[in-house]
Amino acid sequence: MADLITSLPKAELHVHIEGTLEPELMFALADRNRVTLPFATVEAVRAAYEFTDLQSFLDLLYQGAAVLHTAEDFDDLMWAYLQRARADGVRRAEIFFDPQVHTERGLGFEVFMDGFARARQRAAAELGITSALIMCFLRHLPESAALATLEAAGPYLDQIVAVGLDSSEVGHPPSRFQRVFARAREAGLRAVAHAGEEAPPEYVWEALDLLGAERIDHGVRAEGDAALVSRLAADRIPLTMCPLSNVRLRVVDRIQDHNLKRLLDRGVMVTVNSDDPAYFGGYIGDNYRAAQAGLGLSDAEIRTLDRNSIGASFADSAEKSRLL
Ligand code: ADE
Ligand code: ZN
Repeated sequence: MADLITSLPKAELHVHIEGTLEPELMFALADRNRVTLPFATVEAVRAAYEFTDLQSFLDLLYQGAAVLHTAEDFDDLMWAYLQRARADGVRRAEIFFDPQVHTERGLGFEVFMDGFARARQRAAAELGITSALIMCFLRHLPESAALATLEAAGPYLDQIVAVGLDSSEVGHPPSRFQRVFARAREAGLRAVAHAGEEAPPEYVWEALDLLGAERIDHGVRAEGDAALVSRLAADRIPLTMCPLSNVRLRVVDRIQDHNLKRLLDRGVMVTVNSDDPAYFGGYIGDNYRAAQAGLGLSDAEIRTLDRNSIGASFADSAEKSRLL
């Protein structure tokens, strides 16, 4: 089974580039940029990765990202992720980035976009992995900040496939971001949104009906609303689920309790992804293996999850056919 999981060509649709920063690279970049970390060793960083909820993780995620200063840093980060993903059989990666985490520290779009572009071009040429960028707005900040971010992204829109919504969920509903999502869609971008990770099903309804989200990132809590599950299944709306993340952030108690198989059984287009692999102890292959072992997924179910990832991607139809 492990061989099957690695060998299937797959798409990763839910991974935050800032969440792929391994402690070893964090230290190397801190050294390079003369940043002082609040940790003495790589082991101390890993030991700090004991999360009680989403917010306890986000605090460390944003702190870690402060070592990223130059285009070379973002190139190194993206290249490390793409190599690691390719080793798991990823052939298409749609990667979130949080521009506001970097612009709030004084970096301009050109710094991270140039770094991402270099690594993505090299990965396409040398690894045979195609990639796309999804620009997320931080939902704990006001919509006006998201609108300013979309404006600043103007010169780079040809490198961005979609917009997304992430960060602290509860208390920051999708309805607050209707104008910026409408504007992004007018500009030709696709739309996705994190919803139903910690917040109730209403957030998923809002993401679909008010933001025009074409995929729901997580969607774990959608299960509590039968009408919503029927809608997701009937409209083939993909859920980009991240089982190891949900365990580490206490969205579910144990992998055995994860609802991805129940949702799959009810006809929902579930996909498996890694979210923030450097922080949650596993890349996409580890997530497939944990779900397989914890939920007793069959060979056929693994293949369905894999096919779903390709079908749910924003790749063009020629690329999807090739990967399928
Ligand atoms: N940013 C990075 N990972 C996230 C997650 N799982 N939920 C919300 N925002 C995030
Ligand atoms: Zn996420």
